[in-house]
Amino acid sequence: MEKSSVSPNNSFTSAMTLTEKKSLVSPNNSFNSVMTLTEEGLTSVPKRYVLPPSLRPDGTLSNTCLPIVDLTLLRHPLLRPQIIQQVRLACKELGFFQVVNHGIPESVMKDALDVATEFFALTNEEKMHLMSPNVHDPVRYNTSLNDVKDKLSFWRDFLKHYANPISNWIDLWPSNPTCYKEKMGNYTKAVQKLQEELMEVIFESLELNPTYLHEDIAEGSQVMAVNFYPVCPEPDLALGLPPHTDYSLLSIILQNHQGLQIMDRDEKWHSVPLIEGALIVQMGDHMEVLSNGRYKGVVHRATLNSEKKRLSITSLHSLALGKKVRPAPELVDEQHILSYKEGGISDFLDFISGENIVEAKYIDILKLNP
Ligand code: OGA
Ligand code: NI
Repeated sequence: MEKSSVSPNNSFTSAMTLTEKKSLVSPNNSFNSVMTLTEEGLTSVPKRYVLPPSLRPDGTLSNTCLPIVDLTLLRHPLLRPQIIQQVRLACKELGFFQVVNHGIPESVMKDALDVATEFFALTNEEKMHLMSPNVHDPVRYNTSLNDVKDKLSFWRDFLKHYANPISNWIDLWPSNPTCYKEKMGNYTKAVQKLQEELMEVIFESLELNPTYLHEDIAEGSQVMAVNFYPVCPEPDLALGLPPHTDYSLLSIILQNHQGLQIMDRDEKWHSVPLIEGALIVQMGDHMEVLSNGRYKGVVHRATLNSEKKRLSITSLHSLALGKKVRPAPELVDEQHILSYKEGGISDFLDFISGENIVEAKYIDILKLNP
């Protein structure tokens, strides 16, 4: 088992030396980012990316409209109850909605996407010091789900890092590109604030006090998953990310091109449209736990395309690293028996360090009566 890499004073020491990491960059294939692969000008995807037919994204898509919530309307006392009801339906039926008029300036979102693009455009050599297969590392660059152990590979390179409270983590973020910390920092702070507001709305829609867990939410964990999906020569055979739910209470996603798909309760897939300026809000497994099953984590996947490289920035929010999410006592009664045990990020990280994460589900280990 690899060691956790944050020392008490937060200085970052990687379990692997840089020389060891550099020796992992090809030619013997131990670390192969999708970006370096695509630079070789492939016309087909290597075998390990070819999915079994049941996992391929080739079925028909549902074309019903997906919900869009206008946050400014919440401030209107007469409209607020309707918007809360809209959120309740969206969370219950899909575990998903998009938000518009959320208050984050478009320039802040654009800067974050631009600096993420610049990061992935660096050579692998320049990114290698951040490469880590250890899911406990607070900053890590890798590919697919978690490279080494994956038998099946996914067409994604990623950078993940903690973000809230920002002063604990920002020094560990990439210093190349030089404006990464500033631009990503502005975005993460804005999303953290938006998340606090959304959580109040969602709690209200659950008929909880909007300030339920108020401080815990403000001091909660935020993990940024910066995802890069290079152009794929055979987008019908591969995926950027397989169907999964996020561990979070809430995830907020910013994307620069269409590609995300969500599954509804009838197991039909929907493409999430790209709406200029909007952000995507998804319920995660911890929200399923907190709501005692009223709101389920949404199953989603990242599809690929053969023309444009795609970037997405997912901000995953849950309680602080050492804390556990449990069903709200107000949501447990005779009709709604206690259905989940408590779970925290550490349980999730232990889960994904294990085998077979494409088929197994984290939420299943939290269910009391599976
Ligand atoms: C994720 C995720 C979707 C996307 O980061 O967990 O599901 O569209 N991302 O990149
Ligand atoms: Ni996800």
